Amino acid sequence: MLIPREADSEDYKSLRSFDCSPLTAMWQLEVRSLLRDLELWRETVDRHVLVFREPDSEDIAAVLAYRDLLPGYSNSGFFVYALAVDARFRRKGYGTTVLAAALESFSCKCPGCRVTWLVHQDNEPCIALSERFGVAAEPSSEHPDYLVLSTTV
Ligand SMILES: CC(C)(COP(=O)(O)OP(=O)(O)OC[C@H]1O[C@@H](n2cnc3c(N)ncnc32)[C@H](O)[C@@H]1OP(=O)(O)O)[C@@H](O)C(=O)NCCC(=O)NCCS
Repeated sequence: MLIPREADSEDYKSLRSFDCSPLTAMWQLEVRSLLRDLELWRETVDRHVLVFREPDSEDIAAVLAYRDLLPGYSNSGFFVYALAVDARFRRKGYGTTVLAAALESFSCKCPGCRVTWLVHQDNEPCIALSERFGVAAEPSSEHPDYLVLSTTV
């Protein structure tokens, strides 16, 4: 039974220590941006960071997302920057639970909003996970080698 919570800057250390291979460098950079450096931007960047743990266990998964990221696009919805399950805990159904909980959380905050995420075309686990939710992948016009995944919550 995964327990979700909204992250705050206290979670910085725990999230940085995630084994997010093969996206480790990107993950650490983004955690830093979201939970530390962007404290200064609190007014302008609407962040949604969910952390998940099993009862009496360490944090094992997280979702990093922004809302209305693009200035001027007040209705652009949520952009999921990363969804990660610590490598030690993968292939146990956690990713499925986490994506379902994230979509549910976004739906509560903004019914009918778009949720979008980018995935490298070789990221078979993420593409397969997304397909479980009926999310179709389309080639990104802006980012070669990446697919855009998008759904309405
Ligand atoms: C993508 C990710 C979150 C999946 O987490 P997970 O806990 O392993 O996912 P689940 O156990 O719920 O697996 C769901 C389905 O995804 C697919 N899948 C997961 N891992 C896979 C793998 N290594 N190869 C192929 N398919 C895979 C399978 O269809 C799986 O269902 P099954 O186990 O019944 O066959 C995890 O691999 C991860 O954190 N990767 C690194 C970060 C990343 O790439 N994030 C996505 C980009 S933002």
